Amino acid sequence: MNSAKSYIEENKDRFLNELIDLLKIPSISADPAYKKDVIAASEMVKKRLQEAGCTHVEICETPGFPIVYGEKIMDKNLPTILVYGHYDVQPPDPLDLWNSPPFEPVIKKTEIHPQGAIFARGSCDDKGQMYMHVKALEYMTKTNQLPCNVKFMIEGEEEVGSASLGWFLERNREKLANDVILISDTGMIAPDVPSITTGLRGLSYVEVEVTGPNRDLHSGLYGGAVANPINVLAKMIAALHDENNHITIPGFYDNVLELSAAERAKMAEAPFHLDAYKKALDIEAVYGEKGYTTNERNSIRPTLDVNGIWGGYTGEGAKTVIAAKAYAKISMRLVPDQNWKEITELFTKHFKSIAPKGVTVKVTPHHGGTAYVTPINSMEYRAAEKAYEATFGKTPIPQRSGGSIPIVALFEKELQSKSILMGFGLDSDAIHSPNEHFGIWNYLKGIETIPQFYHYFTEMSK
Ligand code: BES
Ligand code: MN
Ligand code: MN
Repeated sequence: MNSAKSYIEENKDRFLNELIDLLKIPSISADPAYKKDVIAASEMVKKRLQEAGCTHVEICETPGFPIVYGEKIMDKNLPTILVYGHYDVQPPDPLDLWNSPPFEPVIKKTEIHPQGAIFARGSCDDKGQMYMHVKALEYMTKTNQLPCNVKFMIEGEEEVGSASLGWFLERNREKLANDVILISDTGMIAPDVPSITTGLRGLSYVEVEVTGPNRDLHSGLYGGAVANPINVLAKMIAALHDENNHITIPGFYDNVLELSAAERAKMAEAPFHLDAYKKALDIEAVYGEKGYTTNERNSIRPTLDVNGIWGGYTGEGAKTVIAAKAYAKISMRLVPDQNWKEITELFTKHFKSIAPKGVTVKVTPHHGGTAYVTPINSMEYRAAEKAYEATFGKTPIPQRSGGSIPIVALFEKELQSKSILMGFGLDSDAIHSPNEHFGIWNYLKGIETIPQFYHYFTEMSK
């Protein structure tokens, strides 16, 4: 197989500029004000898939945002790789913490990205990583090296829970039939430490509302005599963890699959530097569940975190008031074999049970998803391993991630397909945060590595 290196070198400016064009579109799926932009991003992806060599591309309408489907079928007897990614992005706020506007991409060097990184919302999650696959396809078709069939399914609702994807899968089983699903929407340990993501956490996301008196009250006239919903909510949230940072919801840990000592020892072999971790976040100490390491806490253990909390007066100066309502958004990251619907129910029941008299509590579930773990002896894992060996000169390390891509478990259930997660982002790339970026080296290395996966996967399928 010819090296992709020279093709990438010759075309790298164009590869970057095309990605920059896509990053300029504010395709924020969570905010209805950006509906037009989300649609515009889907149209750009369609056009780029056509140019890259897909022989059939269509925009598939769903009850939500469209899914871009593309394919190039070489021969029915060859294996089929289905590429999944998303063209929608997270909201960019807080805007004032960005050093440059989130939808005006700029290239800057950083310590970890000496060759430069593209700063923009979606650069790493997931436009940049998704677009590596489009460019890898371009390379393979333009040089007549596509060894198998390929299908693309790029959605626009990943950041809001992929509500339409199940609907789409049910109606398009035949069209989406494949031998493996290939996804770049995760990370790797470090530029010189390639890794393959072998686990994703599940999720239960809920919103809570605590209501006290029927109106906002003067905090002098009524303070101390009625339940203050904000005080109560703070107390209830604090009670969700004990002094060892275990979650106190009865039954929460019942189905958690504990890892063996051998599995934990294996995990601990992956390079991790606590001092560098603390330094990068500017924190004096890490914090979490007693009895587990940082890497365990953020991958193999379930967690509960408040993502947002509000209520009362937050404007300029002071206003003496007891608000009638207080709110919070809470995410629970789950691990095998926790069932997110069950966990949502356990949470709801428990949270209501710890409310004092004098307030009422409403819990609204948002979305959820099932955790996923892949074996490391499967054909797709071995093909990915060989692909990284070819371009990094190193065997990648299997790594369980703390993030969630709920559709991965759904793919397995609906399409009986396994996914392989070849991520090229770094944890420090600030996805979902201000100043999200994606290393140019990582982008190009991804484009170089992906065709190797096609090659080895096709070889091994024979
Ligand atoms: N790409 C991320 C998930 C991710 C990032 C997994 C890094 C592993 C490593 C994805 O876009 C995402 O943000 N997922 C959400 C869940 C979704 C249901 C909104 C998440 O993990 O918060
Ligand atoms: Mn993503
Ligand atoms: Mn995301």
